[in-house]
Amino acid sequence: MHTHDVVVVGAGLAGMRAAIAAHEAGVDVALVTKVHPVRSHSGAAQGGINAALGNATDDSTDNHTFDTVKGSDYLGDQDAIEILCGDAPGEIIQLEHWGAVFSRHETTGKIAQRPFGGAGFPRTCYAADLTGLVILHTLYTVCVKYDIPCYEEYFVTELITDDHGGCAGVIAYDMVHGTVETIGAKAVVLATGGAGRVYAPSTNSHSSTGDGMSLALRAGVPLKDMEFMQFHPTTLNPSGVLVTEGARGEGGILLNKDGERFMSKYAPNKLELASRDVVSRAEATEIMEGRGVDGSVLLDLRHLGRDKIMERLPQIRELAMAFAGVDPIDAPIPIRPGAHYHMGGVHVDSWGAAPHMPGLFAAGECACVSVHGANRLGGNSLLEAVVFGARTGSAAAGFAQDFNGRGIQASPQDAIEYEAKLRELLDRPDGPKQWVIRDELADTMQEKVGVFRTGPELEEAKVTIDRLREQFKGVVVDDKGKTFNQSLIHVIETGFLLDLADTMVVGAIARTESRGAHSRTDFTERDDENWLKHTLAYLDDDSVRLDYSEVTFTKFEPQVRSY
Ligand code: FUM
Repeated sequence: MHTHDVVVVGAGLAGMRAAIAAHEAGVDVALVTKVHPVRSHSGAAQGGINAALGNATDDSTDNHTFDTVKGSDYLGDQDAIEILCGDAPGEIIQLEHWGAVFSRHETTGKIAQRPFGGAGFPRTCYAADLTGLVILHTLYTVCVKYDIPCYEEYFVTELITDDHGGCAGVIAYDMVHGTVETIGAKAVVLATGGAGRVYAPSTNSHSSTGDGMSLALRAGVPLKDMEFMQFHPTTLNPSGVLVTEGARGEGGILLNKDGERFMSKYAPNKLELASRDVVSRAEATEIMEGRGVDGSVLLDLRHLGRDKIMERLPQIRELAMAFAGVDPIDAPIPIRPGAHYHMGGVHVDSWGAAPHMPGLFAAGECACVSVHGANRLGGNSLLEAVVFGARTGSAAAGFAQDFNGRGIQASPQDAIEYEAKLRELLDRPDGPKQWVIRDELADTMQEKVGVFRTGPELEEAKVTIDRLREQFKGVVVDDKGKTFNQSLIHVIETGFLLDLADTMVVGAIARTESRGAHSRTDFTERDDENWLKHTLAYLDDDSVRLDYSEVTFTKFEPQVRSY
């Protein structure tokens, strides 16, 4: 058995930033991750990270706060959004001092900032179209410099609770050796990213299976606002590979099959740089009404010219050529909305602490603080990961320092008991295949819980999920081996995805309004009187129960939202 003061599960941007903050606060912190840190999904983030640096404009953190509140369709907690936007410039400078190579303005030499959707000013800092990768590698070098221990290729499968309902550590499956370990801790930070793989296609890596959200849910901690799934407006068809919003930020335009710049009908002021929910709905409408091209609309970058594309969007060009057979220097890219980001997550406060379980924290996409409300602005997720990663790491360290000498209650027996459960699963000779269940789940979510939703379709999705949950109880693990048993890992992940899909659909059925990314064609209006509240989803005996909590307002009253 291993023990640490703080254990951080997940080593993407939020996890590594949390570990660095905990280390700097003087505690013994370790990372536990199912993929090598630099393979984390944060590395797929392309277009940038927001901060009101005001390098070329008189932007301010207040402007950033307002844009984020408006983007959230007024469901974001404004105290938390003020922290997000207020801490942003300092975090960018910190990253830069640690070695993050941001793109620079040609003449001033200052960090360059590009326009992004829903933003009143160009405030998205970037490293060409590889921003997540650059920051990920930067944070990794800091973790290595600080000698923060990292359990690589350890898959956390359960949280350990103590006698007082607090979190006492994690159970982790060592994927290389096929053994199970107890890792005891005074505080645990979940930073496992999103659950985009509950959909197909998705911009998310195959490892984005919502592990931390499900671990918390199963331990009795509610998930917040799970019905809000963001569809990114520009993903390649059919692969779902992301084409950064930076492409539109640099001047790319959207066209339908008639060559019409259709965003002028849907968002006459901001056009392609309206917020994501608005652009995704516009594209979906064009496609549904027969003005698409083979199920896509077209992203045209040709007028930007070769030099700009090669300098600012080199990865996009590579991806478009590799996955769509199109060189954007010469031809428009076929794109469509695709599942991208979960606004919901583990219910935590603005220090990342889960009020329902002392010692449990969460940060990044896995958490719901809530700074994104019903719709996240592009460029605010990398920002949330570093700002709330840092806060959560220092809060978890503070919790561990105040532990008052109580012993960590995790024991080697926890791993032994879990190993017995795994053995039972592995010994099962036959049953439904996980990949059949996972494929049907993802297809159902895509078809019935998409950009537009209706009550009857959501109910159909719920019936399917219930059936798949029943089937999953008898699931078989094909590979009976010990080393790199991907079959076993995928089975456990599929169980997590089923939990999360259930919370999403139950929350969506109940929310009889349209707000942000939750757009119901049977309840088309935002209903502030009844629905200006957060959804909390609990799992009681395998069944999702909903409750609600208040939204925090500071400066901005809800207004009609137009772009
Ligand atoms: O479009 C993008 O580059 C994605 C950014 C984000 O989701 O924040």
